Amino acid sequence: MPTDTLVKQTLVYEGKAKKVWTTEYPELYISEFKDDLTAFNGEKKSSEAGKGALNNKISTELFKFLNTQGIPTHFVEMMDETHMLHKRADVILIEVIVRNIAAGSLSKNLGIETGEILPFTLVEFDYKNDALGDPKINDQHCLLLNLVKDVSELDTIRDMARKINTLLQAFYAERNLTLVDFKLEFGKDAEGNIILIDELSPDNFRLWDSESGESMDKDRFRKGLGGLKVAYEEVLNRILGEKK
Ligand code: C5P
Repeated sequence: MPTDTLVKQTLVYEGKAKKVWTTEYPELYISEFKDDLTAFNGEKKSSEAGKGALNNKISTELFKFLNTQGIPTHFVEMMDETHMLHKRADVILIEVIVRNIAAGSLSKNLGIETGEILPFTLVEFDYKNDALGDPKINDQHCLLLNLVKDVSELDTIRDMARKINTLLQAFYAERNLTLVDFKLEFGKDAEGNIILIDELSPDNFRLWDSESGESMDKDRFRKGLGGLKVAYEEVLNRILGEKK
């Protein structure tokens, strides 16, 4: 089907960093990446001109890479600087957090020192619910809330998250970046397959420069370090550029 003439129709969702629109094709949606920045469940807010375009470009490269590695995703194509065309999916209201190194809420909640390499990859589930502050949930909570059909769907999600982690850890390592932790979202496509959705950007990933240990992600905003856009540009350049 021709996609170069597609335009945004009805706004179906507006989140902190993205707007999602319908198109003339029921199974295709357009995401618009915003420049807005939020942290601590929306308590800290700002905006950084050009951040949306950077996240769109970084997400595009990572979705393309994962597609070549056999991970099913919603990605179809990048349309322009701030718009991505993707498949429509029924969103599974679980934020899947994957951790390789202790940081952020893991360190805060469990007292594990930031920077400690975890003995195994930790996969956590948060309930995607802003009003409740995205609380941590376990498999039984997921079933209780009808977020999935059965435990096998949770196993599929965990398997996919681990595979994605293995692929992205190596991908980033080749670019001198350490993948500390990240958040993924999944949905079901028209055939009921579980696919990776949302975005893959430094808004949702903790990435440290492998040599200096410097944060190259949204922690620059969370911690008031400044230089967020420069860091995101550097991440994009390393993704696009030659491997080390
Ligand atoms: O805050 P916390 O340490 O739990 O975050 C773990 C990872 O998940 C971080 O990379 C963070 O950017 C990401 N995350 C996210 N959206 C959330 C919660 C966490 O992108 N709502």
